[in-house]
This record gives sequence, C-alpha cells and structure tokens, in this order.
Amino acid sequence: MIDENRPDGMPAEQVLAEIRELRALDRPTHGGRLFAYVYDPAVPGLDALATAAYAESAHVNGLDPTAFPSLLAMENTLVAAAARLLGGGPGTSAPDVVGSVTSGGTESLILAVKTARDARPDIAAPRIVVPASAHAAFAKAAHYLRVELDTVPVDPSTLRPAVAGVAAALRPETVLVACSAPSYAHGVVDPVEQIAEVAAAAGVRCHVDACFGGWTLPYLRRLGLPVPPFDLGVPGVTSISVDLHKYAYAPKGVSVLLHRDPQLRAPQYFAYADWPGYTMINPVISSTRSGGPIAAAYATVRHLGDDGYLELTRRTWAAVCTLTEAVRGADGLRLVAEPESTVVCFTATETGPDLFVLVDELAARGWHTQPQLSYAGLPPSVHLTVTAAVAPRAAEFGPDLADAVAAAGTLAPEGLTGDVVAGLAAGLGLGPGGGLPERMALVNTLLDAAPPALRERLLVEFVSLLQRPAW
Ligand SMILES: Cc1ncc(COP(=O)(O)O)c(C=O)c1O
Repeated sequence: MIDENRPDGMPAEQVLAEIRELRALDRPTHGGRLFAYVYDPAVPGLDALATAAYAESAHVNGLDPTAFPSLLAMENTLVAAAARLLGGGPGTSAPDVVGSVTSGGTESLILAVKTARDARPDIAAPRIVVPASAHAAFAKAAHYLRVELDTVPVDPSTLRPAVAGVAAALRPETVLVACSAPSYAHGVVDPVEQIAEVAAAAGVRCHVDACFGGWTLPYLRRLGLPVPPFDLGVPGVTSISVDLHKYAYAPKGVSVLLHRDPQLRAPQYFAYADWPGYTMINPVISSTRSGGPIAAAYATVRHLGDDGYLELTRRTWAAVCTLTEAVRGADGLRLVAEPESTVVCFTATETGPDLFVLVDELAARGWHTQPQLSYAGLPPSVHLTVTAAVAPRAAEFGPDLADAVAAAGTLAPEGLTGDVVAGLAAGLGLGPGGGLPERMALVNTLLDAAPPALRERLLVEFVSLLQRPAW
C-alpha cells in the first residue's frame, strides 16, 4: 500500500496543490533576493519555455543515442555552444574539442578526475593537485575514486594559490592539476595560464573548473572587464567544465565537460559487454538519463542567444557593482576580494558586527545570503552569488544592509536558550521534536568554532536525521 489513507490515488489538482503547499516552505527561487542555490535571469516567458521543452523530452532516455537521436543532436549542439564560448572549435587552437553533457558540476568534476586517473593505469596510487579554494566536488571525486587529494594553500589576500606552490605539490603520481575560473567561495580566477604551464611541463593534465563562471567570464570580458585567459585558448588546459544550470540559466541537471581532443576524452567512457543484456556504453556516470534537463537547457540556450547572455551579464555586473558599493558603505564590513566575476564576498572588521547575526538580520529583511565558515586562516564571510534577477532590486540592498548592521551588534550568548539547545539536540536525535531554529547565528557560531572534521560529523548526523521515511 503506497498511502494507506489514499488507496484510490489523488486527483491531479489536489496533488499539485499539495506540492505548492510544500513549496511555500522553500526559499524564494525568483525575485533576486536569494544569493545562493538558484540562478534567475528574470526573463519573462523563459520558465514556461524551459518547462515545455522539459516536458517534450522528459521520457526520452539518454542511455542509447541511436534510439533517441533527438537527444544526441541537442547534446552535440550544447557541447558546441559551450566549446565556442570557451575557446574551442573550428578556427581556434582547440579545433578537435569534444565533450559530454553531464548532470551537474559535481559529475563533470568527478568525470574529469576519473578520466585523468584512467589515462594513467601505470600509476598505482594516483593523486590530484587542487588549490584549497577549489570546489569541494574535487574532494568528493578523490574520495569516490580513491585518488589522493593534494591541496595547495591560497594566499589570504589574493585568495589564489602560488604557482610555485602548485609546482611543488606535483609528484610522479600526480594525474591531474585543477584550478578554478572562478572559485565559488570568493569568485576569483586562479592563474590558469601559469598553472597550466607548470602542469604541461610535468606532462600532467590540467582541468579548469569553470562550472560556476564559464558562462559569464567571456561576456564580462566583452563588457570590458580584465578577465585573464582561462579557457581552451590557454596551452596546457586539457579539459574544462561549465554548468548550464548556473549562468546559462537552464533548469537544474545540466553541465558540460569538454576535453581538448578525443584522445584525452577516451578514458571517460565505461563500456561493458560481459553480461547477457545490452552492451552498455556510458560516457557519463548515469546510464538511464532523462532527456528533460537537456531539452530544457537546449531551449534556454537557443532562446537567449549570444545577445541575450551579453545583456544578462551586463545586468548582473551592474548588480555586482551596486552590491559592492553597499558593502563598502556599510560600517564594520569589508570585501574579502575585489569582485572580478559574479560573486560579492564580505566579512566583518574587528570592530564590525557579528557576521552570523548579520546573516540572520538580512534574512529577517528578506535577503537570503550564504554564510561561509572560517577556514585555514581565512575569516568567516558572507557569500552572494549575483544573478541578473538581482539587478532591479540591488538598490534596495544598501539601506537594508546598513539597517541589518545596526541591528546586528554582537552575538548574545544568552540567546542560547534551553529551547534552542533542545531543538538542536532533538534535531540530532537526542530527544523528541527538533529542527532548525529560525535564527541560525548561534548554530553557525558553534560550527565555526569547530574544526572541519567535527563540522562534517555534526552535519552528516543532522542531514541523515532529516532523511527519514514520511510514514
Ligand atoms: C566552481 C564550482 N564547481 C563545481 C560546482 C558543483 O556544481 P554542482 O552543484 O552543480 O554539482 C560548483 C557549485 O556551486 C561550483 O561553484
């Protein structure tokens, strides 16, 4: 019995009403006030187009491109679009570029690491070198694939790794060097040219993680910003990834992984004929894959076009500038990095407000920012992923930020009441009820005081408690 209360199944309208009711608990995906998780261009009609395209192909299976050539055609178009944007294709220095559509940035990075690992079967204990600012998905890839992760610290003022540090981290077992364009946490572009040169000199592959910014950096450059070389135009870059579900503004579930040539991509495939069923040939991690996200991304990219993305990037940059000025004008705050892409990241000065209380105060004013905990000499910070939808609201941020700073003050330990502790304890399975308190500053402060391994343990236990069957 699926639901003992409803053996007859529910009418469609009622089910949708139920979903809408659940969705009302979520952060707002539209409206330009959520600075993480979502990428909203605020283009009228785009959601409807993407949803219609999704519905057309939702039941198509990417498992076999010969059975569903529509999906293959759309994938190949998306790969060509990404390659053109990132310095590859006819007439470029990477004319033989090839690629695959994956489900997201994490899958693209896992596959980049797997491909590099499997290209070197002679190395028994492979390793990868990444800056400490690289996305956590590299650590996940290393963990899943049993590859050692060598991290190179970043300079606390530039937030970039020293090229000499990358060179020093290389070992005979290194199969891949990675860098970000830009990093998620701070939005800074690593010195890709120099890192790729060091990797090439050692005969090691170099992956550029442009998952976050690959669809905006080329347009920011066209708008006149000094974007350093970061793509396939850089000698030594062997692969690059870009997420279409970020700044290409496609619905979730689509990223592109490009390799400079087919030979570099070859170890990415998994093939298996040694069983009685169909011969399985998979370029990506999933076998059965819905055509929905791919069709939705195809529709989004074709509809917005080059001009559309240029205009959306122009709006986004205008919003970045307005938010940056708001931070500069606020008492007790400072930018962690001078914005050079679509991230604004700030922290508190010594005499400034408690940053985690500030995050709560901003949330109380309808601005949902992302707190980042202190790490390896870097201070705690507030992260804003800025998208085009922020532009019309950006001017409202400054006054609210000033208000929030004035209201924030410092954290009052008395706020750690019995109720808060009971709620947390219950959330961790130590009693009945439980859940997250509305204001998170105390929780964030406790987490911030804990070393990363303890943060991981606490949050794993917490999330595993959330994932319970809804009887
Ligand atoms: C630079 C970078 N790489 C990789 C990822 C992982 O992408 P996903 O969440 O789509 O798996 C992200 C996500 O924010 C990112 O910013």
